[in-house]
Amino acid sequence: MSEEQVSKELEKVFYPNLDKNIVALKVIDNIKIDGNKIKISLNISNESVYQEIENQITDLLTRDFDKIDIQFLSKSKRSFHYGNTAKPNNRAPYAKYVLAVTSGKGGVGKSTISVNLSIALAQLGYKVGLLDADVYGPNTPRMLQVEDEKLRWNDNNKMIPSENYGIKVMSVGLTTPSHDTPLVWRSSVAVSALMQFLEDVAWGELDFLVIDMPPGTGDIQLTMAQELPIAAAIVVTTPQMVSVDDVSRAIMMFKDVGVNIGGLVENMSYFIAPDTHKKYAIFGEGGGKATAKKYNIPLLGEVPLTMNIRQSGDMGTPPVATGSEEEKGYYKTIAYNLLKGIELL
Ligand SMILES: Nc1ncnc2c1ncn2[C@@H]1O[C@H](COP(=O)(O)OP(=O)(O)OP(=O)(O)O)[C@@H](O)[C@H]1O
Ligand SMILES: [Mg+2]
Repeated sequence: MSEEQVSKELEKVFYPNLDKNIVALKVIDNIKIDGNKIKISLNISNESVYQEIENQITDLLTRDFDKIDIQFLSKSKRSFHYGNTAKPNNRAPYAKYVLAVTSGKGGVGKSTISVNLSIALAQLGYKVGLLDADVYGPNTPRMLQVEDEKLRWNDNNKMIPSENYGIKVMSVGLTTPSHDTPLVWRSSVAVSALMQFLEDVAWGELDFLVIDMPPGTGDIQLTMAQELPIAAAIVVTTPQMVSVDDVSRAIMMFKDVGVNIGGLVENMSYFIAPDTHKKYAIFGEGGGKATAKKYNIPLLGEVPLTMNIRQSGDMGTPPVATGSEEEKGYYKTIAYNLLKGIELL
């Protein structure tokens, strides 16, 4: 058996709980054959899957080799810098930094954070594009008050992104005849639509391409990690335990495919009563801090649950642009801490 044949065989080894094999996930670092001995090294940092992957590989190759040596490399220290992720393609060479806003769970505020963080970066003078990767529930056009715009093409047959509050945005929501048209796409179609948004949109030169991810840890997230050098993933959570569990899964998945975690944002951290300005910890306290500590990632900021943030989302008046100084501050802090992390400050 040659190294290529082994690599082909390894496509049968599936990563536990993910619908992807280890070849597709690009976690194979090296395969070395020496007579009837084979040595395989894998870039996987999640120790809880080592045994199962080792068993699968051993079962697969045991007839062909006398000695199978499997090594797991946990790449502990990764630089935030461009190009140091696990050999992804680069479908967005026009962007200096790609940021992915993600979470294991739905409804925790990814889109709200994406929109307000993008605007906060634009307010600092950066050129920012926001790609709404949530093809089944695109919310960003409404949050930016561009939902009634019709898609336009330029002379080079590229889609022209919508613009508001100083940022460019592209979303499936801008391509459908009306903004409540439901999409029934297979995930492969959804993925190709996103590839088109990366390649066929006239983004121009960008400092930051911010990606608002759909909920979960599925095909879209993995494809994005493989097709783009994500400089930093920003993980959004709420203080609740369930949300924190889901978020741990998302963190592990990104770590395993070699994406740097730029930090955690705890959203809906506490409720401020509009009349008394008293703080209430509705979803409990400390979840974000504990998760950040557990995975050794920075806590970029905490955003309270407020009536105005919810209303601003529906009305397309992002708090970082139109809210009180206090509200603007929540998102500016996140932007500031993120920039510090990627050594731009
Ligand atoms: N800090 C907050 N205070 C009040 N409401 C908020 C806050 N953050 C988000 N919301 C509201 O919660 C709802 C869900 O937020 P959002 O759409 O940003 O979440 P999401 O994680 O992107 O959801 P999905 O998983 O469906 O994409 C929205 O109505 C939004 O306005
Ligand atoms: Mg969303």
